[in-house]
Amino acid sequence: MTAGHASQTSLLRELEPTVEANLGRHLEVAKEWFPHEYVPWSEGTNFGGVLGGKAWEPDQSRLSDVARTSLVLNLLTEDNLPSYHHEIATMFGRDGAWGTWVHRWTAEEGRHGTAIRDYLLTTRAVDPVALERARMNHMSTGFASDYGDSVLHSIAYVSFQELATRVAHRNTGRFSADLVCEQLLARIAQDENLHMVFYRNLLGAAFDLVPSLAMRAVADVAATFQMPGAGMENFGRKSVQIAMAGIYDLRIHHDEVLTPILRNLKVLDRAGLTADGEQARDELGVYLAELDTAADRFTERRAAAHERASRH
Ligand SMILES: [Fe+2]
Ligand SMILES: [Fe+2]
Repeated sequence: MTAGHASQTSLLRELEPTVEANLGRHLEVAKEWFPHEYVPWSEGTNFGGVLGGKAWEPDQSRLSDVARTSLVLNLLTEDNLPSYHHEIATMFGRDGAWGTWVHRWTAEEGRHGTAIRDYLLTTRAVDPVALERARMNHMSTGFASDYGDSVLHSIAYVSFQELATRVAHRNTGRFSADLVCEQLLARIAQDENLHMVFYRNLLGAAFDLVPSLAMRAVADVAATFQMPGAGMENFGRKSVQIAMAGIYDLRIHHDEVLTPILRNLKVLDRAGLTADGEQARDELGVYLAELDTAADRFTERRAAAHERASRH
C-alpha cells in the first residue's frame, strides 16, 4: 500500500522544511575537496592508440583481481549518475529546497566516478578498453527505481543505498592494499556518509508525519534491497567475489547498513501504528532475523571454503 498521487505531492510539500533544514546542515558540514589531489598523476603514461603510447598489459596493475573487480563495480555504479539524477529529479522535483538538494547531490556524486577513473587509468590498474566498453554497456542499460513513484520507498531506498555505498567504497579501499586508493575511497565514503545522514533524517521526519506508511516503505525496501549497480553485466558473479573477500557481504549489510539506520530512527520501537503499519513492522522484524541467520550461514561457509583453500 502506498499513498496516491495527490498525497505523494503533499508529502513532498510536508517534508520540504526538513529538506531545507538538512540542506543547510549539509552545506555547513560538507568540506570542499579536490579529486585531482588524490590521483598520482606522475605515474601516468600515454596508452596505445591515437597517441601511440604503451599498450595496457595485466602485469602493470598492482591490484589483486578481486580489488579490481570491486573498484570497477563501484566505478560503474557511480557512472550511472545521469540515470540516478533523472530518477530523483523526477521524484523530488527541481524547485525549491528539494531542487537545490537534487542538484547539489548530483554535483557531489559527479566527482566520485571521475576520481576513481582517473586513479585507475593513471595507475594502469585495469584494462582501459574493457573498462570503457563496460561503461558504455552499463550506462546504455540505465537505472530505474524498483519503487515506482512512491516517495517514501524512494527515501528509504536512498538511505540504505548511500550507507551501503559508503561501506563498499571504504572496504574496497582497505582491501586494495594501496594507500593512494584507500585514501581516495575513504574520501568518497565521507561524501556518501553525509548523503546517508541527509536521507536518514528525512526518513525520520517521514516516520513522524506518517509512521505507518513509512514503516511499510522501510519493510518493503529492506526485504527487496538491491545495490544500485545490480543491473550490471555479471553482477552476481562479481558480488560473490566481493562477498568472499569480505568487502561487502550479508553480515556487513545486516550489521553496518540496515541495523544502524533502523536503530537511529528507533524504527522497531515505533508505536501508534495502523494495522498495516503493525504488520509491516512485524515483517521487518522477521526479515532481519532471517537475514541474520543467512549472514551466519554465509560466514561459516566462507570460513570453511578459506580453510579448504589453505590446505591445498
Ligand atoms: Fe557516489
Ligand atoms: Fe552516493
